[in-house]
Order: sequence, then structure tokens, then C-alpha cells
Amino acid sequence: MPNDDKYRIDSGRVSKSNKTLFIFVGALILAAAIAVAIAVPIALNSNVKTNLETANEILDKYPIIDGHNDWAWQFRDNLQNVINNISLWDDLTEVYPDSHTDIPRLKKGKVGAQFWACFVHCNSAHKDAVRQGLEQMDMIRRFIEAYSDTFQFATTAKDIEDANAAGKIASLIGVEGGHMIDSSLAALRMYYALGARYMTLTHSCDTPWADASNRNYSNGGLTDFGKRVVAEMNRIGILVDISHVSDQTMKDVFSVTTAPVIYSHSSARHLCDHVRNVPDDILQLLKENNGIIMINFYNDYVTCSTTANTTDVADHFDYIKSLIGVEYLGFGADYDGVTRVPTGLEDVSTYPNLVAELLKRGWTEDELRMITRDNLLRVLRKAESVARPSNDPDETWISASSVNYPCRT
Ligand SMILES: *[C@@H]1O[C@H](CO)[C@@H](O)[C@H](O)[C@H]1NC(C)=O
Ligand SMILES: *[C@@H]1O[C@H](CO)[C@@H](O)[C@H](O)[C@H]1NC(C)=O
Ligand SMILES: *[C@@H]1O[C@H](CO)[C@@H](O)[C@H](O)[C@H]1NC(C)=O
Repeated sequence: MPNDDKYRIDSGRVSKSNKTLFIFVGALILAAAIAVAIAVPIALNSNVKTNLETANEILDKYPIIDGHNDWAWQFRDNLQNVINNISLWDDLTEVYPDSHTDIPRLKKGKVGAQFWACFVHCNSAHKDAVRQGLEQMDMIRRFIEAYSDTFQFATTAKDIEDANAAGKIASLIGVEGGHMIDSSLAALRMYYALGARYMTLTHSCDTPWADASNRNYSNGGLTDFGKRVVAEMNRIGILVDISHVSDQTMKDVFSVTTAPVIYSHSSARHLCDHVRNVPDDILQLLKENNGIIMINFYNDYVTCSTTANTTDVADHFDYIKSLIGVEYLGFGADYDGVTRVPTGLEDVSTYPNLVAELLKRGWTEDELRMITRDNLLRVLRKAESVARPSNDPDETWISASSVNYPCRT
């Protein structure tokens, strides 16, 4: 049975090579299956990780400049400004669970510069607000000095860059509330002399010369003296912060300021209809002014509810970018000034999560560099260049009748 034999032989050969083939193919399939089983989760994982890793790399190059942090208020409220016997190098998460700030977390969050808020409550207005304000200036300057391995006092755009080149967190001061100057241009100049580089015209109370966002609108915006306050701020080179003021005050400021203004911690009213946020028509004025809005993370201003997350905050960035452009955006998280923060943005260590979310939405490195640093540096440089410190100081006093308070002699 040659045929049979042949067949058998052939068959045997075929059969043998088939077997090898099957084993080979089987092994290939198994190997492929194992490869897929390992590679897919890695790939998915590295997708998630890539945005965060890229965010961290970008922030290493362009560390965050944040417009508003109330750590100094925590010291006053919890420690009566006694900080000599605590260590700010420690992770303070356990000790002060409601606080959002400490040095390890600032470093993890890649914070390169912080405007520390010099804040005192409105209940001190027309009483001891100036003294309390000075105590907060002292507090901020003391912790910058005591932790000079980490912080470096800064008052100019160049100071910010120098501090970062030295590996330090540039530390600037913003006075949060015009009540701290007690309607005195001389007091304003002295806060500047102590290092303040923005003043929020009001906190949650009208001053005798400017209306706050949430009170009586007793002045109808900015008074003539209020316009002098803005002009004097422009002259000496302290940024005019219009977070917290009424819409009319904002508009009046835009009509008189010669320098770009800041919102140190406000968000978009289109997404959350709250008086602390900025409506679209006024965002257009900000664009004309070449100023900056530094986005607030407080849940109540992000979603107008008690809950929010990273997605919700990123929406404010996307919205304002689409409305007026990326050149006018920055970060003003308001850590330690608020009681509710978004899931994913729980404290100062979490800025990279937001940057990762923006990367996911297609934001480019150039755009991210603008919102982390360049926009604020541009505003600060412009305010420095329009300042005229050698021009005569404004010696006008506010009219006695508009500050007729019992504590004033
Ligand atoms: C710091 O000192 C004050 C009194 O001077 C004391 O009440 C407080 O418990 C001390 N805090 C720590 C963390 O040691
Ligand atoms: C608002 O008006 C009320 C009543 O006149 C007054 O008691 C209160 O002090 C005012 N508040 C501010 C912030 O001006
Ligand atoms: C944020 O919450 C919304 C629902 O409100 C959800 O659709 C979204 O996925 C959440 N984002 C994150 C990053 O968890």
C-alpha cells in the first residue's frame, strides 16, 4: 500500500508537523493572552498615570503661583499666633485636620509662589482692624522668616523668579479687606511698606468708600475717595484685588485703574450664580484690562452646592478660557479660608490633580504655563511698570462725616 504507506508516511509527517504547529500556535496564543492580560492594565494604568505624571513634570518646570491662602488666619484662630512651639515642617494633617496647608503638602502640590492672605474679620471694622491687620502681617513675615529654608519673602515678579531659582516658595502678602486701612491712604502706604502687594478692596463688609459683594451697597460702588484709594494703589504699585466687591465696585474700578487688576479668589458666575463669582460682561472688562481671575476652589462657589470635584473646578477654567481666553486665568484656591473643598482637591498637595484633568481636556503645556505662572507674572510686571512711586503721595483725608464712628478720635 504505497499509497497507504505514502499516505501513512505523509500523514505521519503532516501529523507530526501539525502537532508542532499546534503547540507553537497554542504557545503563541497563550503568550499573547498573558501579554494582553499584563499589558492592558498597565496601558490603562499608565494612561491615568501619564496625565498626573505629565502634570507633575510640567509643574516641576512651572510651579503654581496661587493668589489666596488663609494659613495665617488658621494660626490666629487656632493658636493665637503662637507658632514657636509647633513645627511647620511636620505633616499637620493629624494635628489640624481642618487645615489644608503645611510644608510637606505645599511641596507635593508644587506650589512655587503663594500670596498669603492677611485677613481679619469685618467685626473689627471701625474698631481694631488696623491693629489686627498688623498682627497678621507680623505673623506672615515671622513664619516666612522662621522657615527660610522653605519660604522666601517676595514683593516683585523678579523676586518670585529668584525665589524659585533658589528652590524656595516665593511668599507674597495680600491684605484681604480694605477695612484694615481704616479709610487712610497713609495706612495703605504703610501696609505696602511692610510688604503687602495686593489689597482686596473689601471683605464681606462695605467700607466707607467701596461696596462689598454681599451687603448693603451703601456707596453705590466706589466713592470719590474709593477712586483715590485705587489711584494711590496704582501709584505705589500694589495690586487692586476685586474679589469680594460688588459688581458696581468692580465696574467702577475698571473705569479708573491704570494697572491690570486681579481677582485673587473668584470663579465664573455663569457656572455658579453667586455674588462672589464674576459675571460674563465683567469678565470682558477684565480682558480689556489685561488682568487675571484666579479661580476659587470653594465648593459653594464652584457648584453653588456643598459638594464639588476636580471636574467641576476644571469646568470654570474651560468656561473662562472659551469666553475670554487663557491669558486671564490663574489659581486662587482659597485653602484654609473655606470649610468645604472639592473631592480630588482636598488640600495644597492636590494642584497636580487639576492640571492632570486639564491635560486630559487637551490643554497644552504653553497654556498650562500661562495659568500656573505667566499670567500673574505679566500682571505684576505691568503693575510695577505703571507705578509712579516718585510722584507725590495723595494726602487727602476721607471726609469726617463718612467715618463718624465712636472709636475714631
Ligand atoms: C504651645 O505653647 C502653648 C503655651 O505657650 C501651649 O498651650 C500649647 O499646648 C503648646 N503647643 C504645643 C504643640 O506644644
Ligand atoms: C448693613 O446695614 C445694616 C442696617 O443698616 C447695618 O447694621 C450693618 O452694619 C450694615 N453692614 C455693612 C457691612 O455695612
Ligand atoms: C465629578 O462629579 C460628576 C458628577 O457630579 C461626575 O460626573 C464626574 O465624573 C466626577 N469627576 C471626578 C473626577 O470624579
